[in-house]
Amino acid sequence: MAFTLSNEQQLLSKIATNNGHGEGSSYFDGWKAYDNDPYHPTHNPHGVIQMGLAENELCFDLIKDWVVNNPEASICTAEGVIDFKDIAIFQDYHGLPEFRNAVAKFMGKVRGDRVTFDPDRIVMSGGATGAHEMMAFCLADPGDAFLVPTPYYPGFDRDLRWRTGVQLFPVVCERSNNFKVTRTALEEAYERAQEANINVKGLLITNPSNPLGTLLDRDTLRSIVSFINEKNIHLVCDEIYAATVFSQPGFVSIAEIIEEDADCNRDLIHIVYSLSKDMGFPGFRVGIVYSYNDAVVNCARKMSSFGLVSTQTQHLIASMLSDDIFVEKFIAESAIRLAKRHELFTKGLAQVGIGSLKSNAGLFIWMDLSRLLKEPTAEAEMELWHVIINEVKLNVSPGSSFHCSESGWFRVCFANMDDDTMEVALRRIRNFVLSQIKGMEAPKKRQCGQSNLQVSLSFRRLEDIRMAPHMMSPHSPIASPLVRARN
Ligand SMILES: Cc1ncc(COP(=O)(O)O)c(C=O)c1O
Repeated sequence: MAFTLSNEQQLLSKIATNNGHGEGSSYFDGWKAYDNDPYHPTHNPHGVIQMGLAENELCFDLIKDWVVNNPEASICTAEGVIDFKDIAIFQDYHGLPEFRNAVAKFMGKVRGDRVTFDPDRIVMSGGATGAHEMMAFCLADPGDAFLVPTPYYPGFDRDLRWRTGVQLFPVVCERSNNFKVTRTALEEAYERAQEANINVKGLLITNPSNPLGTLLDRDTLRSIVSFINEKNIHLVCDEIYAATVFSQPGFVSIAEIIEEDADCNRDLIHIVYSLSKDMGFPGFRVGIVYSYNDAVVNCARKMSSFGLVSTQTQHLIASMLSDDIFVEKFIAESAIRLAKRHELFTKGLAQVGIGSLKSNAGLFIWMDLSRLLKEPTAEAEMELWHVIINEVKLNVSPGSSFHCSESGWFRVCFANMDDDTMEVALRRIRNFVLSQIKGMEAPKKRQCGQSNLQVSLSFRRLEDIRMAPHMMSPHSPIASPLVRARN
């Protein structure tokens, strides 16, 4: 049968008509479910709660106070309008010097002032999204690949691949060692890519990790640096969650590792940063490429014309991030609030036997519902996910959308809502799990020998189930009724 192109494919480009954006994936499906039926405490109390959005909304009171107290930082106020014309006409793709200075200083502060960043190496982009694409354009040709440890942020499939033609090649990490990035896993991935005749141009790591909320320790970072130097490939480090670390051990930036490694070829090292997570400003689209390679800085700067940060935003950010007292207070307070939210959430889950990967960073947890799967497959994970989204009415993100090698994990964001909404979300998950336990115990009592889980239920009915205190286990998921029921 002859292959025929659809009318749309004939009229538009290959990029316009391929599905490289990934809008159809389950990650984005969850967002659509939320958009169609968003939760509101009074107008729509049975709507979907958005837990698929890694946003940091816990410190907006501090930001608001700063904006009110610094009216001259905004050019649309009586105090700031004097700068309006200069800012409105500025269009140099190097960016405002005060913006680059302030961002470089902020990047150092977030890393405990253990390293400094050169403002002349700061290149702007439209969020980390634009920064990643810019990196791919600078470092690789169509068909070339970046190795990426799994599980990884689903947006990478769009950012690095869609318009550039670059590929991502998984470095498979496993739950058996808490998804650590090992030298063995890196070597295996590199070899598999070579066997498939794929030209590996780099390794992309995310530290702290999205979706795991864990940090790469110093030894792992050293081993990664030695790996990429041996293979002579680039290392792109996404550090956009650097300031979301809320407890020990502290964050170690790749910038610190290369400071102490005289043999490292710095031309291979590049950092992607943004203010979307650390400051909670995804709408401002402040993305940064910081490369130690002069040629990359020059090329990226030319490319930044396609995704500049508006000068109005640069002006405001320059002013805000130059305020040392505010920045220090913000970073410290944000960590305290994230820690509190994380503890409340993970403890609340643990009481009904829901485990999660131990983490100390990020705006999410990596929740383990593998025990609720009918079988350990991606299909069973999707089935469970559909119940969670359609009946429990929570938009969490399934592990398969993060290319996780094992089924049953879900990323659950906890910093994009107020305390009350979080309580409702927690109650929904706990009620759901308790109902699952009932479904698992009933057949046991009848001794019918079937272990299939009942994963369909009416959420409204569940909302009414009162939590029986005797069902709660003190803290550990191991001692929980859920775990006992599965044994
Ligand atoms: C690891 C990672 N990199 C990049 C991005 C994109 O960030 P931005 O909003 O700055 O484009 C995200 C957003 O969630 C992310 O989690």
